[in-house]
Amino acid sequence: MYLTRVIYCSELSGANKDAISDILSVSRRNNAKASISGMLLFNGTFFLQCLEGSRNAVNETYHRIMRDERHCHPVLLAYEAIAQRDFGDWDTAYVPWTSDVRKIIRLFSIDEEFNPYQLSGESAISLFRALRGHLPNSEHWSKPLQQA
Ligand SMILES: Cc1cc2nc3c(=O)[nH]c(=O)nc-3n(C[C@H](O)[C@H](O)[C@H](O)COP(=O)(O)O)c2cc1C
Repeated sequence: MYLTRVIYCSELSGANKDAISDILSVSRRNNAKASISGMLLFNGTFFLQCLEGSRNAVNETYHRIMRDERHCHPVLLAYEAIAQRDFGDWDTAYVPWTSDVRKIIRLFSIDEEFNPYQLSGESAISLFRALRGHLPNSEHWSKPLQQA
């Protein structure tokens, strides 16, 4: 079974911003079971998510997420077979919207506002890799796979 990576972005729909904690707890539970790793970035308006794992697991999860009415206007930024995981230590690392994170995001942005719809797939994965080193080591924000 091929290792596969998907990156998409979307926009919060009518759902409350607090929906993020429900989304995260379900994602961590399901993704750990399906051996999916990845990262989720949310700035209060836009989502940017990377999912990596077996092709079947990533496809099933992606299609389930696409049916979720808590977000809208999804755009697939990247879908590819990968030789190895980038986020193997994490089930669903959630990137907090800190000033450090904003500084990194600015490097990948056209203007001050973060808009994932302006990212190519290549720059989205570079952004995730840059963010990887800046995740706070906190249970609340991100949980290593082995502790799931
Ligand atoms: C932006 C966003 C990201 C999500 N990411 C994941 C995810 O990585 N894994 C997952 O299982 N569900 C994710 N979900 C939730 C799914 O859409 C769906 O509600 C959930 O998988 C249903 O799980 P259940 O059948 O176990 O209740 C996400 C939802 C949204 C809106």
